[in-house]
Amino acid sequence: MTTVEFSPAAEPLAAKLLEPAREILARYPAGRERSALLPLLHLVQTEEGYVSPNGVAFCAEVLGINKAQVGAVATFYTMYKRRPTGEYLVSVCTNTLCNVLGGQEVYDQLVEHLGVGHDETTADGKITLEHAECLAACDYAPVVTVNYDFTVDQATPESAVELVENLRQGREHTPARGARICSLKEMQYQLAGFADPRDGAVADGVAGAPTLRGVRLAQEHGVAVAGFDPDTPITKTKPLPKDEVATKAEAAGVAANKPASDAKPAGDARPSGGEGAK
Ligand code: FES
Repeated sequence: MTTVEFSPAAEPLAAKLLEPAREILARYPAGRERSALLPLLHLVQTEEGYVSPNGVAFCAEVLGINKAQVGAVATFYTMYKRRPTGEYLVSVCTNTLCNVLGGQEVYDQLVEHLGVGHDETTADGKITLEHAECLAACDYAPVVTVNYDFTVDQATPESAVELVENLRQGREHTPARGARICSLKEMQYQLAGFADPRDGAVADGVAGAPTLRGVRLAQEHGVAVAGFDPDTPITKTKPLPKDEVATKAEAAGVAANKPASDAKPAGDARPSGGEGAK
């Protein structure tokens, strides 16, 4: 990264974040540094608690792009917050399976108990509440996460209220799985690609029974993949030559710079009338 003269808007963050920002940029090949925008936005949130206007300026100036380009990314993903957040982000899954099993009731109870709605923060600054789409833990439905870590499995309105009260009162709350709870700003540091600095935190928690169910059943019934060696090294596939990539894209009906909505998945021969969707 070349030396950058920061504007008055970006300067205060640059004074705090330039070193880790340089570390993030160094992970990307020369000429592809703008790909570092996603972790840089998380880095901004470690200080600001959200993607502030100053944070947008900082990212733009570090990467040599304009603020509109930063804003386009920051406003697309829900993990980049547009308003200051609380110390803890409590997300309740209200997607299909969690909803069927009571996720909406859990969320509604928290709305009533905390007096805030979606994407709002309690007056004491402790909790930001949100309802979330599938959190990829449907076998533990309904699921509640704190700062994106699975914290309450098979949640009930009561267990969710117990969680938020423990957080607000500063009491310890042991998560269902994974590392002990940290603050949202600390989590942003991990999301920016840095290791959890807390002693032993990485080894916290165990896998839950539903996750291990398949393994247990396989062991019980003597099911195994013939010849499978668990120590098989993972090899990297060689990148395809450019002309081969273009040929494959063409075969799949995907033209360069063609909007995704125009492109059909490879092999999709269904008629547009929906006949093939049965
Ligand atoms: S539907 Fe809630 S975790 Fe998947």
